[in-house]
Amino acid sequence: MVRQEIWEHRMAIETVGVIGAGQMGNGIAHVMALAGYKVLLNDVSEEALEKAMVTIARNLERQVAREKITPEQRDAALERITTTLTLSDLGEADLIIEAATENEEIKQAIFEALLPHLKPETILTSNTSSISITRLASRTDRPERFMGFHFMNPVPVMQLVELIRGIATSQETYETCLEVVERLGKTASPAEDFPAFIVNRILMPMINEAVYTLYEGVGSVKSIDSAMRLGANHPMGPLELADFIGLDTCLAIMNVLHEGLADTKYRPCPLLTKYVEAGWLGRKTGRGFYDYSGEEPVPTR
Ligand code: CAA
Repeated sequence: MVRQEIWEHRMAIETVGVIGAGQMGNGIAHVMALAGYKVLLNDVSEEALEKAMVTIARNLERQVAREKITPEQRDAALERITTTLTLSDLGEADLIIEAATENEEIKQAIFEALLPHLKPETILTSNTSSISITRLASRTDRPERFMGFHFMNPVPVMQLVELIRGIATSQETYETCLEVVERLGKTASPAEDFPAFIVNRILMPMINEAVYTLYEGVGSVKSIDSAMRLGANHPMGPLELADFIGLDTCLAIMNVLHEGLADTKYRPCPLLTKYVEAGWLGRKTGRGFYDYSGEEPVPTR
């Protein structure tokens, strides 16, 4: 197919390559497989791939138990997922969603290694929560076929996907990705490529403000979280949510906002920085604003 024809026809996506089998990557593989796509799930660690398949099976089972899906749908979804340690195996994919570590050098190295194996029409996307889509795209051979495909955590539950257009992203690429989001039964919010896009541009300053509220002694962990859960009907309080997202991720996004928009209103709270320096990163390390070592999370301040 000549390039002009590729441009004129919106692509039919059948096979999706997911890079990174962590919390986001396994959720993405889960929803893609359930929607009927063939999924190639790649990671550098065999252990991560094994763990991801256990998590996907458990979360699908949870959906069976709640009668959201049938056991047949669960089995078919699991069968559609192939795991691989070899990045070049993703060459047959029509759509790539990169969900590796949130580190620009790592993402760039992955794209460099992957590009020679991709079909020219394959759409390349990143699940990044804050790195510039335009900059990532500019270092590939297909900036017009590159965009941000940003899922929310937990992926099987959250309705939203942010679709972020880099400055060069074509309308065809956007529309093809939008069709995928719709087939997942999710809703897309289109966003332009500015620091932290929409959700994190609004959510992270709120979380950061909650940490300032704690830092300045206005309220305890419990009172701050209860206030926002019961007073603003948020499903989780902001500090509980920060622990769920990971305090390192929250701090990294605040730094992107602070540096990218050069406005002091985005300065990260020193207490958030201190927690990250202590290695208290939230649920994943067993301690953040709550201590997760017992049966129930216990507020630490
Ligand atoms: N897979 C499949 N199903 C899952 C699941 C998973 N991983 N996790 C939860 N569920 C399902 C449960 O089975 C349950 O199903 P029903 O509605 O059928 O009963 C439902 O989700 C609710 O789960 P629970 O009853 O266990 O718990 P909950 O009511 O406390 O809800 C929550 C949990 C959905 C996580 C809720 O607390 C919530 O919405 N929290 C806010 C999450 C949020 O804001 N996420 C965005 C973070 S920001 C982000 O992701 C962007 C970024 O770049 C940082």
